[in-house]
Amino acid sequence: MAASLSSTTHTAARSAASASGPRTTDRLAALVADIRAAVGRGLPPDPTAYLVGEKLAPHLGAPGLLTPGQCEGDPERYRQHLLHAEADGSFSVVALVWLPGQRTSVHDHVSWCVTGVHQGEEHERRYRLLPADPPGGRARLVATEDVVNPQGSVCGFAPPGDIHRVWNGGSDKAVSIHVYGADISRLGSSVRRVYDLPADR
Ligand SMILES: [Fe+2]
Repeated sequence: MAASLSSTTHTAARSAASASGPRTTDRLAALVADIRAAVGRGLPPDPTAYLVGEKLAPHLGAPGLLTPGQCEGDPERYRQHLLHAEADGSFSVVALVWLPGQRTSVHDHVSWCVTGVHQGEEHERRYRLLPADPPGGRARLVATEDVVNPQGSVCGFAPPGDIHRVWNGGSDKAVSIHVYGADISRLGSSVRRVYDLPADR
């Protein structure tokens, strides 16, 4: 998996947590405890993301991980459900629900990120940012890789070099679990910047 906070797509994908806080299943509570232990080791972003991915993988597809409400989509745009925000701000867990055809903008992230596909599949296109040539012109994006992430797959990454777009290219709902090394309850989303630039695809 997550430009400026003015991103239309990400800002629109607001948390669905209620005023009383996110509801938590026992399985999610166990996952959060495992993530807390991994993040608490204080390792650099890349190994932290790797360890968190190992903790996330066994829970993907498990029927008891999310409540029915946490799997609800929005006909207008992909939807973010805040599942957990650690009190010290060190990590957050969200579920993103994608109806067929829903997508993000091209963006990157404020922190390390681990994504796992809980249901369905996610399509992802990764980009490299090429500086303006000649200087003073407009930078552009070059697609470097197209990936289809099937149910159960896990990806971890850390900025920089994490520019991508994600969409549901399938015919069924997709649900993915994202863990960020940031306080999403405060930031609203993990997006650092949206790249509204020419792209080759
Ligand atoms: Fe992303």
